Formats: sequence, structure tokens, C-alpha cells
Amino acid sequence: MRVRIEPSYFEMSNVAAKLIAAQLRRKPDSVLGLATGSTPLGIYRELARMHKDEGLDFAGVRTFNLDEYYGLAPDHPQSYRYFMDENLLRHVNIDPKNVHIPGGIVKDIEASCSEYEASIREAGGIDIQLLGIGRDGHIAFNEPGSSLGSRTRLKTLAQETISDNARFFKSLDEVPRFAITMGVGTILESRHIVLLASGVEKSDAVRLAVEGPVTSEITASVLQLHPKVTVFLDEAAAEKLKRRDYYKYVEAMRQKVGQAEV
Ligand code: PGA
Repeated sequence: MRVRIEPSYFEMSNVAAKLIAAQLRRKPDSVLGLATGSTPLGIYRELARMHKDEGLDFAGVRTFNLDEYYGLAPDHPQSYRYFMDENLLRHVNIDPKNVHIPGGIVKDIEASCSEYEASIREAGGIDIQLLGIGRDGHIAFNEPGSSLGSRTRLKTLAQETISDNARFFKSLDEVPRFAITMGVGTILESRHIVLLASGVEKSDAVRLAVEGPVTSEITASVLQLHPKVTVFLDEAAAEKLKRRDYYKYVEAMRQKVGQAEV
């Protein structure tokens, strides 16, 4: 696990966007796993800018989103489909047929979850998966206690997540109680996982995920078992890490041997 501590949210977002841009230049038909929430907004803004100013090409890119609120239609302003359109997809030249987001309104939940898994496999798997982290240590909507081998499925949201996400809705009652989410097992199959966290309110979850034991109580902690994870943090999110100075030293040493970008 590589931990990169950047001075601010702005810098963290730009460095992570550069990493994605390098992936797209290396492999123009890359499969990106995308996340919603406040944290990836800076990356999406920078990717849209790179498309506009530098011609970063999304024509061959395929995307899979982590999750969607169960019960919300694609045109609902709080649906993750709507979020993705507004914040990234309509600003770049992606082919709409290459965009995959779990359906929020489906007749057969299990069938649609298996189809989602099958379409990830058919695309050849995910090259880079972006993740945020919840204050309860969740990745996607894999709340504490989720099986570490779980696949895409319907998940009941934890109270803490419902109240954290209420800021986007008119009232707490309007926040959906369920989501369709990739499982922990689905996420772990991605070739490279990029987890981002910003702000002091994430610092406990970050400490437990990066330096705590691997446990389904903090589903992000399972990333310790993955061979290629990059954790991008701003100073505030990194503030409770025991080995914070060591992670910074590692990055300084990587610079010296020309390994900073890898
Ligand atoms: P946030 O959400 O980026 O809005 O903080 C992260 C998450 O809950 O996974």
C-alpha cells in the first residue's frame, strides 16, 4: 500500500487526476471504476479540464460506477447517474454506451447485480478503481460487517451513512435506505485501487483502514491485502497516522530514484 500525503485537497486531486490521465494515455480503452461523493469532485474537475485544454481522450474509455441508491431514477438529481453526468461525463468525450452505473430502479435485483458483475468481466476487469471512504470505514456502500468476499448486491445503509448523506437531500427522510453496490470482493479484483480521503473527519477511518487490523468492521482495511493500492490523503486526513513521517520519507526517496510517478 502506497500512502501519498499531499498538502491540500486541491493538490491531492490534481496528482490523482494525473495518475488517471497517464493510465488513459498508456491504454486508451482503459476501464475506470468511478466513485461519487464530495471527495472525487476535484479529480473530475481536473480530468474535464485536461480534456478541454490538453485533449485528454475518453473516446475508448469504459467506466463502471461503484454504486447507486436503490429506488432513485437516473434523472433524480440525487441519483449517482445524475451526479456522474453533471460532474464528469457530459464534460468529456465518453461514449454513453461505455458508461455503466448500477440501475437504481430494477425489477429483478439479483439478476441485475449479476449482469453488472458479468459486464465488468466482459470489459476485461477494472484497471483503476477510485474509492472514497466513509467515516465508518466503508468503501462503496459496504457498511461495517459486510462480507469481505461480497459481490454486487442490495445493501442496507448504516445510520451514520444516512445522516452523512442527508446534506444532499431536503430532509433525512428523503435519503434512500438501500443501495446497489459493488461488493468488497468485486472491488478487490481491480488491478489498481486508488483510495482518496480529505479532511479531519476522515482521519480516524483512514488510520483504521491503513494501520489497523484487517476486519469487516472497517471494510476499507481489506485493501491491505491488495497488491496495488495508492492512498491519497490531504494533511488533515493523514493526521492520525502513526507512520505519517515514514510515508512522506518513502515518497521523498521514490523521487530520488525516479519512482515518484509509478
Ligand atoms: P464523501 O463520501 O466523498 O462524500 O466523503 C465518501 C464515502 O462515503 O464513501
